[in-house]
Order: sequence, then structure tokens, then C-alpha cells
Amino acid sequence: MTAPVEMVKQFWEGRAEAPGVGDSEVTHADVWQRELEIETILKYLGRGDRVLDVGCGSGYTTKRLAPHVAEVIGVDYSDAMIRRAVGSGSGPAVFAVKDVLELGPADFGVFDVVISERCLINLSGWVEQRRAIDNVATVLRPGGRFIFIEGGRQGRKNLNLLRTTAGLEAMPTVWHNVDFDEAETLAYLDRDFVLERRLPFGVYDFVARVVHPLLVAPDAPVYDSRINEIAATLALHVDAFPELSRVFCRVLARREAA
Ligand SMILES: C[S@@+](CC[C@H](N)C(=O)[O-])C[C@H]1O[C@@H](n2cnc3c(N)ncnc32)[C@H](O)[C@@H]1O
Repeated sequence: MTAPVEMVKQFWEGRAEAPGVGDSEVTHADVWQRELEIETILKYLGRGDRVLDVGCGSGYTTKRLAPHVAEVIGVDYSDAMIRRAVGSGSGPAVFAVKDVLELGPADFGVFDVVISERCLINLSGWVEQRRAIDNVATVLRPGGRFIFIEGGRQGRKNLNLLRTTAGLEAMPTVWHNVDFDEAETLAYLDRDFVLERRLPFGVYDFVARVVHPLLVAPDAPVYDSRINEIAATLALHVDAFPELSRVFCRVLARREAA
């Protein structure tokens, strides 16, 4: 069952104002996974690029990308997230309130790169997720890149199978996330995009979600740990265990209009 849209939005509004939680953690507790995501994104950005970060949250990633590109705009449907992004100093990044389901070229023009870093999994289902993908296509120039970093259903299932086989508990589903079916999503993306790269984070998930918890059991693993840092560094260089990647990450190029 999917969560009501208003509840999900309220959840993010609340997170933006969570006391004592830093910008790097307010939207995602796994700080080394996020570092891996940022380093991965940076590989696909050019100095002259105009970039849009949809569902930018507190703007942590957006601000890290800003020095490397010509222009970056972060948008989020949560006023509180955008207030937080601006309030902690935007630097060269620009922030605006915008729902990805209402995004179009009339808002901010067209871009060389659009990034969705765990934003579209918050939509209420595949109908809305397809609409968001369609909207992203309208704001990318032909040949422009869509960096899609979301949650994959099959990766999560395989990882949970390995965890339970190893004596760990399955990771519970996140109430406000709707993971993507990988085959169905790739087939849909193919209408407007050419697949450039599959970016498996499988090494990260294998180490951070299987080896690390086994190593510290019965204690709970801590996100900000040396072993997760090592896992993130390895995952940047080693393309292995793609079937274990919870993170469904693809680099896609916008097709030329027919
Ligand atoms: C998991 S957080 C990720 C934030 C950021 N991309 C990051 O990596 O830190 C998801 C973000 O997507 C935003 N979001 C969810 N649905 C959205 C929508 N329909 N339009 C715009 N933003 C949305 C939420 O407010 C939240 O800030």
C-alpha cells in the first residue's frame, strides 16, 4: 500500500526542521552512501553544465556540485527544505520550491543535466513516477543527461535474501518509498532516453549492509564508520555484485526529438 502524498510531504517538512541533525544527514542517514553518490555524479558533470537537482532536500549535494558546474538549481516541494537550503548559505547554488510532478521548461528553462537522487521513490506509485520521468525529459536538452539514483526492488530483494541467509534480519521497507521495478523502469526510460551507464552500488551494499552488520553483531552498525567509508571508496572503482545494489542508478542521455 502506498503512503498518502500529504503524509510524505509532511514527513519531509518535519525532517527539514529536525533539531540537531546536520545537512548531510537530514535526508539520508547513510553518509558514506551519499558520498559515493556525490562522487559518482561528479564524474558525469562538465564545467559548462547547467544542472537541475530535483528533490534536492537540504541542498547538501546541490552545494557540493555547484563549484564544478556553470549553474545548478535545486528544487524541492518542501518549503521547509528549501528554507533550510537557503538558510545555511547557498553559495553559487540557487534553490526554489517546485513539485517535480509540475515541472516543465517554462519554470527554469532547459538543462544539460538533471539529477534525481532518491526523490522519485517518494512519489505515490508508478503512475506518478512515470509522470515525473516525462517531466524530466521536457527540461533536458537533446543529448542532455539524466542521472537517475533511486531505489531498486530487485536489488533490495536480493540483498535481503543474502542478509537472511547470513542470519541477519531483512531490511524493512521504508513506508514512504516506492522502489522501482528495474526492467519496467528501463523499458519506460527507453522511450525518451538512451542508456549510457549502469552504476551498481553493489559493493557498497554488500559491505555496508552484510559484512559490516555481521562484523559488529549483536551491536547495530553505525553509518558513519570506517568500514562504510572503505566500502564507498571500493564501490567507486569496482563494478561487482550488481544484483545486490539497492541503489538503482543509471546515466541516461535524452534522445533527439523524433
Ligand atoms: C530522500 S530525500 C533526498 C534529498 C536529496 N536529493 C538528497 O539526496 O539529500 C527526498 C527529497 O525529495 C523531496 N520530494 C519528494 N517528493 C517530491 C516532489 N514530488 N517534488 C519535489 N520534491 C520532492 C522531499 O521533500 C525530500 O527532500
